[in-house]
Amino acid sequence: MPTRTLGDGTKVGSIALGAMAFAGFYGGGDDMLGVDAIRRALDRGVTLIDTAEAYGQGHGEELVGQAIRGRRDEAVIATKTSGGHPDYITEAVDRSLRHLGVDHIDLYYLHRVDLEVPIEETVGAMADLIAQGKVRSIGLSEAGTETIKRAHAVHPISALQTEYSLMQREPEVDLLPLTRELGITFVGYSPLSRGLLTGQIRSEADLARDDWRRRVPRFQGKNLSHNVGLLAPLEQLAAEKGVTPATLALAWMLQRTSNVIPLVGMGRPHSVDRAVEAWELKLDDDDIAELDASFPIGVAAGERYPEGMMDALGT
Ligand SMILES: NC(=O)c1ccc[n+]([C@@H]2O[C@H](COP(=O)([O-])OP(=O)(O)OC[C@H]3O[C@@H](n4cnc5c(N)ncnc54)[C@H](OP(=O)(O)O)[C@@H]3O)[C@@H](O)[C@H]2O)c1
Repeated sequence: MPTRTLGDGTKVGSIALGAMAFAGFYGGGDDMLGVDAIRRALDRGVTLIDTAEAYGQGHGEELVGQAIRGRRDEAVIATKTSGGHPDYITEAVDRSLRHLGVDHIDLYYLHRVDLEVPIEETVGAMADLIAQGKVRSIGLSEAGTETIKRAHAVHPISALQTEYSLMQREPEVDLLPLTRELGITFVGYSPLSRGLLTGQIRSEADLARDDWRRRVPRFQGKNLSHNVGLLAPLEQLAAEKGVTPATLALAWMLQRTSNVIPLVGMGRPHSVDRAVEAWELKLDDDDIAELDASFPIGVAAGERYPEGMMDALGT
């Protein structure tokens, strides 16, 4: 697997594995399949493994820790603090280290900008963790441009993690140019639009009763019908190329811009094997242009989070 570089110079496989689904967010998560997926990922050069304390109150981190036992040096571990107050961060990092069973975290993100705390204080506390050897580099998630600039002035930010896919191209307007300018790597989460771009979700009936996506407007009623209706050009081009729509969607992201690492939720070894195929699929300029035209900014119907969670995005 070719590599890409985080802002601090760490080389990682150009596709990253997200371990959120192991915590059961999407229903039907299977712990051992998830652990096997991480081990398969390391075998295939997918080295950046992403989790958060919020994924199952530490359970997701424990599974990542279990998967990398004996292979710590092969993995670049990213996790996230759920709060931005310095006191909170001091305690949260120790909990995450304990869950993971490691002595340092390679990339420690602020999961959401804490509106109660100036970003300078949050980043100052995160930078202290680097000085203490608990963390190697720091990142932000879902931060807006002004916050990123202020944070980066306190301590270099290694990565920005924000949703990015054919269904969610808004970061191309401001976040991608800014991160490129500042030397911050853009980690694009939910690059398959939480499964929509796999083509395997056609109606709400395809989601388990306890699947969190049922609460997301983008996966409800007329919005979902509209969004599924957008898939035809992706599915047609994928069929022409003999690949799955998911592979094509990932190849689009990898080849469109070199500053981006797609962060794919992979709860099964099979998904890792499919993701790796995205590297082997070469797209030409016409393919990229066709997909760009079929999925313009704003194309998806419905918000990407339930109403109460929207305020924390892009802050
Ligand atoms: N910072 C944040 O606020 C934030 C928010 C959301 C997500 N994230 C991170 O981003 C990661 C990915 O996001 P996500 O899981 O929401 O969405 P995603 O990567 O867009 O989609 C994941 C879904 O697609 C399936 N899948 C993966 N590869 C596939 C393939 N090649 N073919 C068919 N299906 C495939 C997965 O199934 P299986 O699980 O069965 O493999 C899973 O159901 C998370 O795990 C998490 O680490 C971060």
